[in-house]
Amino acid sequence: MLALVKTIRFETDEVISIELISNDTTPLPSFAAGDHIDIKLPNGLNKSYSLMNNPAEMGRYVLGILKDPSSKGGSKWIHEHLRVGMRLDISAPSNNFPLQERFQHTILVAGGIGVTPLLAMAHRLHGLKASFEIIYAAKSKGSAAFQDEVAQFSAPVHWHFDDVNASPPDLQHLIEERIKNRSLSSDDCQLYACGPEPMLNAFLTACDHLKLQHAYIERFKAPEAQASLETKTTYTVALKRSNKTIEVTPEMTLLQALRLNDIDVVTSCEEGVCGACETRVISGQPDHLDSVLSDQERSKNTVMMVCVSGCHSPLLELDL
Ligand code: FES
Repeated sequence: MLALVKTIRFETDEVISIELISNDTTPLPSFAAGDHIDIKLPNGLNKSYSLMNNPAEMGRYVLGILKDPSSKGGSKWIHEHLRVGMRLDISAPSNNFPLQERFQHTILVAGGIGVTPLLAMAHRLHGLKASFEIIYAAKSKGSAAFQDEVAQFSAPVHWHFDDVNASPPDLQHLIEERIKNRSLSSDDCQLYACGPEPMLNAFLTACDHLKLQHAYIERFKAPEAQASLETKTTYTVALKRSNKTIEVTPEMTLLQALRLNDIDVVTSCEEGVCGACETRVISGQPDHLDSVLSDQERSKNTVMMVCVSGCHSPLLELDL
């Protein structure tokens, strides 16, 4: 669908916020905390961005976009070419980072621009009058976007700026302190984190040490893909709807093989983090290399992210 760019605002030197509204009389679909949309840019790239405004608001989507220095044309194009009044081809909202609403307390851990999906969660929790708090870490105060938005809730906020502290946050200490102060058990509390890879790894390690099993992350980028040896062999892919059989050799990825054979696959990040390419598996044993599926979902082998994943079995049957 097409959405109209209503406002663009500089939030920091490197971050802009973009407000999108409907391009016609049809209202934009509602969304949930943790949702993202895919934007099909005029340069052909398809990029995913989290919705950061209050999910209770109807009729507008707000995105926060960091100009990534290693951008291949996504955030760079948006920063340099997007203007108010332009129309963007966007997907309906979808969610790989759902907020659960049954816990006594929630801790939201934001790293830099990773604050965006957590802001939508904070709005939702605030609306529910639920107990929550925020840990917001950034390289410096000047680089931390949306500070007023983070501070607007009645929830406590712990700010951490690496340049002031001369180090990244000690997440294990910060989380443990909060759990102890509230006398929470691990089943009373859920945690959500979004931010750069080292911070997410530190967060997962901290939650593991503290035995907090309700800890969820959303990545910007997939961790370095660790293709297993089994993916280095040739396998056959049977495509049920296309009625085709193709070979995937060690020199190519599954996605490359599908495209070489003119199989249309919807993709966005192509790094295994957004969920856009989720495909139903009819039979076979995928080699899951994405960051979207949980361990439980992987073990079922009923869906896979074809942009990064491969196959352990000689035959993979897909609903494509
Ligand atoms: S395109 Fe994003 S997970 Fe495959």
